[in-house]
Amino acid sequence: MTSLNRLAHKVAIVTGAASGIGSATARLFADEGATVIAVDRPGSAIATVHADQPRIVPLAQDVTGEGAPEAIVVAALAAGGGLDILFNNAGVSANALGELTTDAQWDNTFAVNVRAVFRLCRAAIPALRERAATTGRARIINTASVMAQRTDIGLSAYTASKHAVAGLSKTLALELGKYGITVNYLLPGAIHTGMTAASFQDEKIRAVWAKKAALRRLGQPIDMARSVLLLASDEADFITGHGLVADGGLTLRT
Ligand SMILES: NC(=O)c1ccc[n+]([C@@H]2O[C@H](COP(=O)([O-])OP(=O)(O)OC[C@H]3O[C@@H](n4cnc5c(N)ncnc54)[C@H](O)[C@@H]3O)[C@@H](O)[C@H]2O)c1
Repeated sequence: MTSLNRLAHKVAIVTGAASGIGSATARLFADEGATVIAVDRPGSAIATVHADQPRIVPLAQDVTGEGAPEAIVVAALAAGGGLDILFNNAGVSANALGELTTDAQWDNTFAVNVRAVFRLCRAAIPALRERAATTGRARIINTASVMAQRTDIGLSAYTASKHAVAGLSKTLALELGKYGITVNYLLPGAIHTGMTAASFQDEKIRAVWAKKAALRRLGQPIDMARSVLLLASDEADFITGHGLVADGGLTLRT
């Protein structure tokens, strides 16, 4: 698809940008003209994976680190002189029956999927407000999951964390609307990424999930990146507090 330069002159933070949805979104944002601070864990591929795209500035940073939110915002201001878009996407999954879920599994899931998202939103709000005061708009987009609406066996910590992302996003939308900042969240279905690679390696499992979706296929990271771009674009000025289901019709059936 040809770039329409829809994010020209904008500065974006994308977390979880070394792999899957975050990687595809960082690239699409940069292709659309944005300067992108691409954040992922030290030891991930973040230092090298976007080396061919000069508008992507890699930042090796664990989002759960104590000073991480401030370091990430500082990097955005240094690279782009402001902040227009925050895409909180880094996430981890946990799979265990509720009765077998350990404190460590619960805490780790919430540390990455909820606490780090909240803390980076909080740290970024002053810069987003400043930008919105001059340009009229700024964006927060958080990656939830269809598990922000539904659930499955073995997903108590993950599902609870993604419901929390929805609740946080809606509340921030209410609080930040008066500044021209929209806050929305993405609900991906079954997407072929690093997180799901192990199970989707099995052709039978892949086929089952593809068949469940109305579109009869798994989602790809680029499908999610395009959905995030919709929410990030200027065209989405009047959309806030919205959970965008991007699942190819996976959850239509009752
Ligand atoms: N793949 C799916 O089917 C699916 C479905 C619904 C929601 N999601 C959500 O999409 C988001 C992206 O996941 P993905 O599917 O692209 O998986 P992925 O594993 O390919 O990418 C996730 C990235 O987040 C990074 N990350 C994890 N913890 C981090 C930390 N503490 N600090 C910095 N970076 C960290 C990982 O290193 C990885 O690069 C997650 O929030 C996930 O819950 C995925």
